[in-house]
This record gives sequence, structure tokens and C-alpha cells, in this order.
Amino acid sequence: MQNAIDAISEQLIGETFEKCTFSSPRNKSGEIRSVVINAISNSLEITVELRLQKHNDIKTILKKDFLTKELPEYLQQFKQCLVKSEASEIQILLNKKMTSKIIKSVNKNEVNKKHNRDKNYLIPDGEPCPFLVAIDVMDKSGRVKSNHYKKFRQINRFLELVNDLYRDQELSEFHAVDFGCGKSYLTFALYHYFANIKKIKIKITGIDLKQEVIDHCNEIAEKLSFDQLHFAHGFIHDFKTDDPVDFVVTLHACDTATDDAILFSLRHKAEKMMFVPCCQHELNKQLKNDESSILLKHGIFRDRMTALVTDTMRAQLLEVCGYKVQSMEFISLEHTAKNILLRCSKIERDSKKTEELLQNYLTFKKQWNIEPYLEKELSSGKFI
Ligand SMILES: C[S@@+](CC[C@H](N)C(=O)[O-])C[C@H]1O[C@@H](n2cnc3c(N)ncnc32)[C@H](O)[C@@H]1O
Repeated sequence: MQNAIDAISEQLIGETFEKCTFSSPRNKSGEIRSVVINAISNSLEITVELRLQKHNDIKTILKKDFLTKELPEYLQQFKQCLVKSEASEIQILLNKKMTSKIIKSVNKNEVNKKHNRDKNYLIPDGEPCPFLVAIDVMDKSGRVKSNHYKKFRQINRFLELVNDLYRDQELSEFHAVDFGCGKSYLTFALYHYFANIKKIKIKITGIDLKQEVIDHCNEIAEKLSFDQLHFAHGFIHDFKTDDPVDFVVTLHACDTATDDAILFSLRHKAEKMMFVPCCQHELNKQLKNDESSILLKHGIFRDRMTALVTDTMRAQLLEVCGYKVQSMEFISLEHTAKNILLRCSKIERDSKKTEELLQNYLTFKKQWNIEPYLEKELSSGKFI
């Protein structure tokens, strides 16, 4: 067991220590399920979280006491211990005779960090970026926090897609709306990109139905002096503005909320839009296709097919309404299955091509026996 004590102690006193978890208790009916050492509060103390059967308990212990007393005790009580530091992970397995097996591996986050530094991101790792510090993705020195790497990559991927969309455009004034903005890290990123990187006179409005999230986002915007970034509470289909709208973003808004955002964009003749649709429930029950009955009888296949049919239909209707539509992966599928992004730009199209697109849509719709909300709203609004 001394090998295990030495290996853990070395990590715990190291500057890049992140987390240590003891799990798989030898006494399954005992009160403690696991023990997590979350962070080192200062150079002398350690914060220990005891995960008990009914509640959790947190205590602070002097580091030297922990290393001599608690650490050997926990190694007696648990079969496994995982220690994470910035650069590596150590897994310790202890058998009944208390013989330890120590498995060391390189921390994937660290590999990703290097990879990301090499990737030339629009917002680089290692340079302080005030909005990323404010939303806790970066520390004040500009270092991306290990547990927020996924978010950091998503923000940069999003900005790459926006950058590509506006590559050949001369912009001066600009108004964007982000529907279903949630905690708004992508909305802050959008503001940073246009205001600070592109140096454009930008105004952005974020809309969400959660009041507390909106209040929090307004506080952060004020702290950052992002004075043309405002958040408002409400449903997408109720939102009204007299300002021209150039760009509409709707990422992961549920079910027909995406359609409401599309309808808003068309009413305001937005030049560009980006949607990542989510939870495509509307057509799930409607979908019927005799030739594909063996596919639709499986719930999971039906769900995936519904998502594809819904987004195919949205893309086609947007083409009918005068947009070029590109579909692409937003972020890698390892993070979420809700991953298809539709990126749209207004273009000129002749009436013959538009009619052909509409006929193709009608054939597709008949094949799947669907009556989508978007189509009904578009025809009542005389868009198609
Ligand atoms: C999954 S979160 C996505 C947040 C953010 N767009 C992102 O991708 O990180 C979806 C957000 O959409 C909001 N939302 C869903 N339907 C909405 C509607 N009809 N009107 C306004 N907000 C809506 C929810 O409150 C939630 O905050």
C-alpha cells in the first residue's frame, strides 16, 4: 500500500493537482459511498467531500494530517482511487491483500489543449479574454480551465462558422438576435467577435423564457461593458422589434421553437441565419411511410428519422423562401447527438427554380405523410 500512498501524495502536493476520488467501498452497506478531494483551498489545507448514503458532507483538513491519517484510512476503505492532475491521470486498484496496481495515463484534456493551441483558434488559449473569464471558462491569466475545454472548443467552432459566413461581407452596423440563448456563452462570444475582433458597430438581443437566466446574463453584459448586448425575457413567437434584423441565431431551442425563429427571420428579412434544431417532436407521431414501416417500428430509429425529416423539410422550405442552405456538423458527435447546423444566406433565385424546389418539397411531404407547423405558418403568412 505504501506505493499507492506515495503516488497519491506526490500528486496531491503537486501544483497541477485537480481531483482525487476514492470509490468502490469494501463495505457496501457502510455509510460512505465515495470520497472526493475537490480542490486544495490553500497551500496547507485540503477540502474533502464525503459522499454519504443520504447526504454529502464537506470538511477541510490540514494537508499534512490528511497525508498521514485520512489517506491510509481511505485506501483501506476503498478498492479504487483516481487522481487527476493537469497532465496525467493515475488509477490505483487495491486488492483484498492491499496490494496495489497503479495505472498511469496521459490526461486527454492536456493533449486537447496542445492540439487546440496548435489550431489557431479565433480566441486562443493562453491570452486573457474578458468574457471567457467572466463566464468562468478561463482564469485571469488566460488559461482555459480544464473542466471547460468542451465549452471553449464549442465557442471557437461557433465563431469559425460565423467568420466563414461573413468572410466576404463588408459590414458596418449590424443587429443580431439569439433566440433561446440560455446561459448565453455563445451570445457573449458573438458580441466579442463582432465588437472586438471585427470592430463593427454591433447590437445583439438575446431572448429566453427563463427570467433568472436573463437577469444573470444582463448582469454579466453590464460588468463587461458590452453596452449593446441586451437580454430579454419571453417566448420566441411573442418577440417583436422595430429594428432591422440582419442575423438570427437559434441554437438548441426545442421542437417548433426553431420554426418560430425561422418565421421571425423571414418576417424581418434577415440576411443570414444559423440554426441547430433540437427535440424534433412535432412530426414524430405523424410520420408514416409504408415502404419504410420496418424502420419506423423501432422507437430509436423513428426518433432519428423524425429529426432528419423535420430538418430536411425546414432546409427545403428555407430554399423555397430564397435562402441558400448549408447543413453541417456543429461540434463532434461525441458531445451531443443534437448536432446538425443549418446555415442560411439570402440569395436571388428565379421563379422557375423556386417552383421546382417547392414541388420537390411537396413530393417529399407526401412520401412521409406530414403536415408541418412551419409550412402552415409560411402559407398563412404568404411566404410560400
Ligand atoms: C438547450 S438551451 C440552449 C442554450 C444556448 N442556445 C446554447 O446552445 O448553448 C435551450 C434554451 O432555449 C430556451 N427556449 C426553449 N424554447 C423557447 C421558446 N419557445 N422561447 C424562448 N426560449 C426558449 C430554453 O429556456 C433554454 O434556455
